[in-house]
Amino acid sequence: MKKITLIYFSPTKTTETVLRAITQGLAQNLEISDSEITAINFTPPKIRDTVLAPFDGNDIVLLGAPVYAGRLPADAADFFKKLTAVNTPAILTVVYGNRAYDDALLELKDVASSCGFIPVSGAAFIGEHSFASTEIPVAMNRPDENDLKQAADFGAETGNMLKKTNDLKKISALKVPGNFPYKEGMGKGAPDFIEVTDSCTNCGICATACPSNAIDAERGFATIAEDCILCCACIKACPEEARLMKDGSIKDKARWLNETCSTPKSVQIFFATEP
Ligand SMILES: Cc1cc2nc3c(=O)[nH]c(=O)nc-3n(C[C@H](O)[C@H](O)[C@H](O)COP(=O)(O)O)c2cc1C
Ligand code: SF4
Ligand code: SF4
Repeated sequence: MKKITLIYFSPTKTTETVLRAITQGLAQNLEISDSEITAINFTPPKIRDTVLAPFDGNDIVLLGAPVYAGRLPADAADFFKKLTAVNTPAILTVVYGNRAYDDALLELKDVASSCGFIPVSGAAFIGEHSFASTEIPVAMNRPDENDLKQAADFGAETGNMLKKTNDLKKISALKVPGNFPYKEGMGKGAPDFIEVTDSCTNCGICATACPSNAIDAERGFATIAEDCILCCACIKACPEEARLMKDGSIKDKARWLNETCSTPKSVQIFFATEP
């Protein structure tokens, strides 16, 4: 019996939602029960200290991350690089905010291959942009119902492919868009772009949601700019809507994205061989 493991970084949960839909289609196709499915969400920093046992031919692994500046988020790439696998098929997913995914899926494929995974399929899905708000609704509410149906179908088609493939080593290399050398990615550090209003009740939910330990509870839950990765998880998680994006370069970028990337993009999927 095969086991499925989902391994993902997902501050605002769109990547998680897509991976779960892919898993549903895959598990149904391969008749794998829920008890054989494990999700490893390494968004919380403390999870990234975990050293996972090597994966083998009984595993199917889904790797997922959002696109940050056309690349994998640095923390996600660093965690993926620590994985090891022998003869393990990997299903690769990046989720982007309707601008472009540039080199992120290629980077994920390269990282997965260097860990010993055999990339069998890959996809780029669209998720609500981290910078989106009701005022500036970039790719708002993606993935939508149609995206999630495509995610489940992608999982099922990958299942068909795996059923037909006797020897994973003989399948052709997965080809995905992207260039090497990759685009320059982003490190840590953000402008002072979040205001905490008087509605804050000191509940601490934002600090728990932060994947970068970049919120200082001792200073009124202010953002520690040098540690912030701009993910906006804290803004979206605040139950009081007490964290607001200030006027400035990030809000201007959100407005620019909303104007220039308003036409909804379609999901793209790739297979190593015909499913
Ligand atoms: C710092 C940062 C950079 C981003 N760069 C891109 C990008 O290059 N292209 C794009 O289309 N979306 C970009 N996005 C949007 C995210 O990829 C998108 O919102 C994704 O759905 C977030 O995934 P999550 O919900 O799993 O956190 C960026 C978001 C952040 C926070
Ligand atoms: S989640 Fe919102 S209300 Fe809670 S501490 Fe953070 S800013 Fe304050
Ligand atoms: S403080 Fe920065 S890194 Fe932390 S959740 Fe907020 S935007 Fe993301």
